[in-house]
Amino acid sequence: MEAKLQDLEIRPSRSDDMASIERLYPAAFPEEDLLPLVRQLLTEDPGILSLVAEAGEATVGHILFTLCGISGSDAKAALLAPLAVAPEWQRKGIGSALIREGLSRLKRDGVARAYVLGDPAYYGRSGFSPETGVAPPYPLPEEYREAWQSLGLGSAPLPDHGTLGLPDVWMQPALWAP
Ligand SMILES: CC(C)(COP(=O)(O)OP(=O)(O)OC[C@H]1O[C@@H](n2cnc3c(N)ncnc32)[C@H](O)[C@@H]1OP(=O)(O)O)[C@@H](O)C(=O)NCCC(=O)NCCS
Repeated sequence: MEAKLQDLEIRPSRSDDMASIERLYPAAFPEEDLLPLVRQLLTEDPGILSLVAEAGEATVGHILFTLCGISGSDAKAALLAPLAVAPEWQRKGIGSALIREGLSRLKRDGVARAYVLGDPAYYGRSGFSPETGVAPPYPLPEEYREAWQSLGLGSAPLPDHGTLGLPDVWMQPALWAP
């Protein structure tokens, strides 16, 4: 039976989702190999939130958040990346649903702010706006400035400047360059 959108379930990923996740990324990102990063995050688990969207038996979307800190502050933060929806399931609200569910879980866990480097036209729809205070771990080229965005999740006090402190897996300049 063909899976329908109303069957959509969003849940934390398990180790037996790996094969579906490995199929999803090359389909969603034909020109970019994000699998090494995703595998590393999922297997080394430096403190992540990993959710899959399932329609019937099919894994149709995946989102990852890496828990992180901000220099000079005790605030808990999270970096959203990557996010992938299977091409035939795009533009049905699945990406937005994964973002919404992820942010709501992070908020429950006391995360004060989520950060993302991505298209403002897309992430702006979920409430993100350009971040100018807290910097990413590597300086961004001018044309990426608007793409560095954040969204406050609660009432916890937040530093208005600093640098995002990420686990080692993210400390590769190539992940932050065009
Ligand atoms: C970007 C992506 C995650 C969006 O997921 P999705 O489930 O298709 O998104 P939603 O259905 O929640 O939202 C779709 C809306 O966002 C818009 N949208 C989708 N991708 C967009 C983009 N890159 N820039 C601007 N708007 C975008 C669409 O126009 C659509 O709106 P419309 O149907 O009213 O025109 C998905 O298209 C995807 O996996 N793309 C390839 C990988 C990628 O670029 N991932 C994001 C960067 S990590």
